[in-house]
Amino acid sequence: MAEAAVIQSYIDLRDSECEARVAKAKAALGAQVVILGHHYQREEVFRFTDYAGDSLKLSRQAAVSEAKYIVFCGVHFMAEVADILSRPEQIAILPDMAAGCAMADMADLAKVERAWRELGQILEPEEKVTPVTYINSAANLKAFCGRHGGIVCTSSNAEAVLNWAFERREKVLFFPDQHLGRNTAYRMGIPLEKMAVWNFNRPNGGLTQEQIQEARIILWQGFCSVHQMFQPEHIDRFLARYPDAKVISHPENSFEVCQKSHYVGSTEYIIKTIREAESGTRWLVGTELNLVNRLHERYKNEGKSIHFMSPTVCMCSTMFRIDPQHLAWSLENLLSGQVVNQIKVPEDEAELARLALSRMLEVSP
Ligand code: 13P
Ligand code: SF4
Repeated sequence: MAEAAVIQSYIDLRDSECEARVAKAKAALGAQVVILGHHYQREEVFRFTDYAGDSLKLSRQAAVSEAKYIVFCGVHFMAEVADILSRPEQIAILPDMAAGCAMADMADLAKVERAWRELGQILEPEEKVTPVTYINSAANLKAFCGRHGGIVCTSSNAEAVLNWAFERREKVLFFPDQHLGRNTAYRMGIPLEKMAVWNFNRPNGGLTQEQIQEARIILWQGFCSVHQMFQPEHIDRFLARYPDAKVISHPENSFEVCQKSHYVGSTEYIIKTIREAESGTRWLVGTELNLVNRLHERYKNEGKSIHFMSPTVCMCSTMFRIDPQHLAWSLENLLSGQVVNQIKVPEDEAELARLALSRMLEVSP
């Protein structure tokens, strides 16, 4: 049977049947396989993960895993990082190749190189600008940062990484997420007037020479369409109804949402903060629905009320691509000696990306 037909035969299976097959294949593979899963994974997949985490925690886990196969239940850039940080003989697998990240796709190498050239007509970027890429980006952009004295960050170490970057050069070019860059830089004391937004579809990012010279941080105009759904009015309405409630948001949210939140941090930080909160507390959470639902289920018996920030259902549709059907397909192929959907970053690119990632791991708290 052609590969597409084989996958279709899995897609036609019911979740419960697939879950039994995943459990069986996982048990048979034993220590040969480790399943890593991001907190946004749906429950039917999440229950099979050996390690769950945010992007930083999962990167660290990929770097120390012993298993021959690292099956990544997350999105493409995460599996690339697993491949880059694991040993050469280990194999990273993404159960569905369509599980990308729309925000990561908002920056590509051609556009970033063009921005670097255009900045070079106004100042000396190699002396004055540290490129910082959010981990939500393709491996070749991490390699770009490795090559140009730059670094990678995640949502949980962005401040430490920006400190590192500003210690070396006076400005930062931050891509692809403008919000993480803005929210972090503002928290570090950089005023909004010292931030410029780079419109990657316009010459010179749509900025004047003066705006570029004045800026401490140049923010790529990328964003996450999931976090874009959360609005400051959602917080206002909730707090009007529950004045004692707490609001916690991911830093991919807009500046206005983060400013109105009591706490801002990565998915791992959100989980930790709610886990450690007192019984009887009420929370409005501005991040992806699968995680918020899991928090609600986990803590309802401890008397904690967990609410989703948006009135409409919004999930990360690409994280959702990983389903029990694709997981069963990947694992059963491994059992029969076949590797499907391997993520392999070319070694020259991986080497430079590893440099930018290892700088990040060194400065991460
Ligand atoms: P975390 O690293 O906080 O888990 O965030 C990853 C992500 O893609 C959030 O949208
Ligand atoms: Fe990308 Fe947003 Fe999905 Fe995170 S939630 S993986 S940033 S699209």
